[in-house]
Amino acid sequence: MNKNIERVLLTEEEIGAEVKKAAAWLDERFAGKDTVPLVVSVLKGSVIFFCDLVRAMQTPVQMDFMTVTSYGNSSESSGLPKIVMDLAASAQGRDVVLVEDIVDSGHTLMKMKALIEGRGAKSFTVVTLLDKPSRRKVPIAADYSCFEIENEFIVGYGLDYAQQYRNIPYIGVLKREVYEK
Ligand code: PRP
Repeated sequence: MNKNIERVLLTEEEIGAEVKKAAAWLDERFAGKDTVPLVVSVLKGSVIFFCDLVRAMQTPVQMDFMTVTSYGNSSESSGLPKIVMDLAASAQGRDVVLVEDIVDSGHTLMKMKALIEGRGAKSFTVVTLLDKPSRRKVPIAADYSCFEIENEFIVGYGLDYAQQYRNIPYIGVLKREVYEK
């Protein structure tokens, strides 16, 4: 285990099982519809989840990417998510599925929803790996979340602290001394 991880919160196996369920939920949602959803990874945190999720889906999809950041190297949301890189595709008339690693304050999701709907998307569906409802600052929720978690400082499977730990294959609780020094 990484020396800066205090304990494993979610193992690779636990995550894998929930990713399959999320993919099945999306397949069900688009079953029988003559549509190719535009599945969007909100970079960078969701990239690992996104890759596993789309590969577990049966529905034909198009993939796109958007880089949004609001935390920088801080553990508190700035409340003002910044779009660093926009979608390549148009959202106009599309069934957009937004893939997030975590919904925390909700600011990022609120901004993305307004943006994508404002561009004329036909539908907007949000799938998140993790949800921290106790941290919500704005009233918004994902349509599907794999795990509801307590307010712990977690990293791995895409989630970072100061841009590190994203490639750890499980989700672990970061040792307090790492982010309090
Ligand atoms: C994280 C995470 C979500 C967002 C959730 O992104 O990936 O997009 O924060 O937090 P919120 O609900 O409080 O808005 P971050 O800004 O850390 O960028 P990253 O994805 O590159 O790590």
